[in-house]
Amino acid sequence: MSNPKKDSLAQIKADIVTQNICPDLAEAATNLVMGCGNESADIVFIGEAPGKNEDLQGEPFVGTAGKFLNEMLAGVGLKRDDVYITNIVKYRPPNNRDPLPAEKKAFWPFLIRQLRIIRPKIIATLGRHSMEYFLPGRSITVIHGQPKRIKFNHSSEQNSLESVIILPLYHPAAALYNGDLRTTLIEDFQTIPNIIKSLEK
Ligand code: URA
Repeated sequence: MSNPKKDSLAQIKADIVTQNICPDLAEAATNLVMGCGNESADIVFIGEAPGKNEDLQGEPFVGTAGKFLNEMLAGVGLKRDDVYITNIVKYRPPNNRDPLPAEKKAFWPFLIRQLRIIRPKIIATLGRHSMEYFLPGRSITVIHGQPKRIKFNHSSEQNSLESVIILPLYHPAAALYNGDLRTTLIEDFQTIPNIIKSLEK
């Protein structure tokens, strides 16, 4: 059966290839890691960039940080297939270095296209690299776990602004081996069901 959302998401992937986005990253990468999960999800998680395992398997968050993310999802009654998971940068940066500002900028329009198709109610940013694009100038240590409603141009028509909730979360990899951050991230994660409930009213 045809799935127009799947087809539109596949077109974004094709466009990244034909437009030769970040050719240096592309050359070194095994896979272009677009995202996975439910393309009509109410909540989208956005990380930084694929790591080694993600590059090899072509799916975001499949390594240790991904295992932790899965556990936190299960803790709030969600499966990976209930949500959509992606990254701001879609190719693995060499040696897992931080994505460069130019790389984030190059991939940003494609992330926006993904979000326009999925149309989530909540965007949970994982780490500062994806947060800074939605909430510029804010500090994750100050605003983590605080849902922020922003006007977001979901539509391709310039005037059609919709609002979306941004939930800034720490990155699971940063929290993995830091007990305090880990506790904070788990606590912040546990606010998700209430945020979803409040949107259903
Ligand atoms: N870290 C990320 O930010 N994204 C992944 O896909 C994996 C690890």
